[in-house]
Amino acid sequence: MQNNWVSLTKKVYFLTGLFSILLLPFKSLHAQSGEELFTGNCTSCHAVNKKMIGPALKGARQAWAERTGSDEAIIAWIKNSQGYIKETGDPYAVELLAAYNGTVMTPMALSSDEVVSILDYIDNWEPPVAEAAAPVADGDGGGEAEGGNPLPWIIVLAVILFIVVRVLVGVNKSLENLRRQQEGEDTLPDVSIGEGVKAFFMKNQAVSVIVIVLIAAYLSVLGWDSLNAVGVYQGYEPSQPIWFSHKIHAGQNGINCVYCHNSVEKGKSAGIPSVNICMNCHMGVKQGKVTGSKEIAKIYEAIGWDTNKNRYIEGYDQKPIEWVRIHNLQDFVYFNHSQHVVVGKQDCENCHGPVKEMDVMYQHSELTMGWCINCHRETNVSMQGNEYYDKIHADLVEKYKDQGLETFTVEQIGGLECGKCHY
Ligand code: HEC
Ligand code: HEC
Ligand code: HEC
Ligand code: HEC
Ligand code: HEC
Ligand code: HEC
Repeated sequence: MQNNWVSLTKKVYFLTGLFSILLLPFKSLHAQSGEELFTGNCTSCHAVNKKMIGPALKGARQAWAERTGSDEAIIAWIKNSQGYIKETGDPYAVELLAAYNGTVMTPMALSSDEVVSILDYIDNWEPPVAEAAAPVADGDGGGEAEGGNPLPWIIVLAVILFIVVRVLVGVNKSLENLRRQQEGEDTLPDVSIGEGVKAFFMKNQAVSVIVIVLIAAYLSVLGWDSLNAVGVYQGYEPSQPIWFSHKIHAGQNGINCVYCHNSVEKGKSAGIPSVNICMNCHMGVKQGKVTGSKEIAKIYEAIGWDTNKNRYIEGYDQKPIEWVRIHNLQDFVYFNHSQHVVVGKQDCENCHGPVKEMDVMYQHSELTMGWCINCHRETNVSMQGNEYYDKIHADLVEKYKDQGLETFTVEQIGGLECGKCHY
């Protein structure tokens, strides 16, 4: 009995050890890379090589290290910039904050190791080749996010595990038979593979429990990851029927987004302007600096404008411009622009990136569930001067009395409830 117990515990140790070794590659597969952490947490405000809402990050690590002697300061700053300023009073940081009009960098729930991997990623970053290409990009540009498919790994592991178990059972059985032969008992009967495995797990329940727990844990990690990556079309940059540049219109000429996307403050969708809106200006503006009259001519072609006589052609069969849709959530997701732009006071750029610098529009953000939820976790609801929130705010202060909270994230007003985003 005593002996049996010892050998059972040994087997359990051995098998768990084996399992952990086999699972090692998964651990590294699932640790988020510096790039993933960077796109997940920073690209709403930063790019490596250009200024966006925050400064370009290339070289920042080196400059901070030269100034403070190590990476520690920049790590503390990235985790919690306000806390860092409070603690150190670092005049450089105070000035930087002022230079960015007091735009506060949201505190990040990142470990120091994760921040270091982001910094490493920035150090090793190379500009993508496409960035240097001509303004009108062909094809679909980005495409789906890649990521190692772990399925082949699972199959290989399952096979290895199966063989190991078979061998163990076999060895066990031969030893047992040897012992029985020596002591003159009957040897064990032959059993089929299936029965053998079943008997092994029935006998060694501790092993069965461990195996089940590990498999369940692994599958749930897998499930969560794939949920967060459903339909990622980040970077999607189709070519459009007219070379329409946001950089020229919203950037250089400072035309307000709402002038063209005129339902963005009123309703669910932002809307794409009709040809009539283009004509408000292009009746007069007939030439562009980049494309001359070639692209603007397509506007006249669509609406039927006679440039010689400066009037609409009578009885012309107008055809709308068929813009290729870029951002597209699936039908089961509810997203409302006015709720975010007017009530939530979110800038277009928080979600759509540096639009004023885009010659060709592309999808800047992931638009995944994880993306929505991250922002809902981090962003405070602006309740001041918003009557709708007076009562809600009072209730929340009461609810979080113990923690003495005065500001609340979207999460705390219920922005993570499935029903808010899913029909
Ligand atoms: C909400 C927008 C926002 C997000 C998200 C954000 N930052 Fe910032 N970041 C800023 C702004 C704005 C500044 C300029 C200083 C200030 O106003 O606080 C800044 C400054 C910095 C600086 C100092 C740069 C310098 O030149 O000294 C570093 C480094 C930095 N951010 C890294 C990061 C990293 C890494 C992440 C992601 C983990 C991140 N930031 C996420 C807005 C943001
Ligand atoms: C002069 C009119 C005009 C102005 C001003 C303008 N846009 Fe646009 N926008 C368009 C047109 C036309 C399209 C469709 C063609 C394209 O995708 O480039 C478009 C497309 C978009 C799209 C992608 C739509 C899709 O298919 O998913 C976004 C996002 C967008 N604009 C955001 C903005 C933001 C943010 C601003 C302000 C910084 C802005 N626009 C200013 C005319 C305008
Ligand atoms: C509020 C005024 C305004 C509106 C509305 C407007 N544009 Fe423009 N557009 C301009 C101006 C100004 C220029 C700049 C000419 C320049 O300086 O190159 C321009 C330039 C252009 C060019 C040529 C770019 C180049 O440099 O080659 C195209 C093409 C164009 N617009 C298409 C459109 C389309 C399509 C729409 C409707 C969706 C539209 N514009 C709406 C003001 C406007
Ligand atoms: C909180 C994030 C967020 C903000 C802020 C935001 N958008 Fe969007 N935008 C989205 C999402 C998500 C979609 C895709 C919607 C869909 O497919 O139903 C989208 C789609 C669009 C489209 C494509 C047409 C449409 O309505 O689906 C345009 C144009 C657009 N946004 C313009 C703007 C402009 C202009 C602003 C600022 C006034 C703005 N957005 C602010 C997230 C945002
Ligand atoms: C840049 C930050 C940001 C992103 C990204 C974002 N949201 Fe929001 N969202 C907010 C803010 C801020 C509010 C609070 C608005 C308010 O005061 O009601 C909000 C509120 C909401 C609400 C109402 C919640 C409630 O309890 O009333 C829904 C629904 C919602 N968002 C859906 C989405 C979906 C779907 C996406 C992704 C496609 C998304 N949001 C992405 C910032 C964001
Ligand atoms: C803040 C908004 C938001 C909340 C809250 C939210 N989701 Fe989602 N969900 C999304 C978005 C956006 C997508 C991705 C749609 C896409 O990829 O086009 C998504 C995708 C999904 C999918 C994937 C469907 C598929 O394509 O395979 C499932 C399942 C899902 N959500 C379930 C849930 C459940 C369960 C909850 C509550 C715990 C929840 N969601 C809460 C926004 C949200």
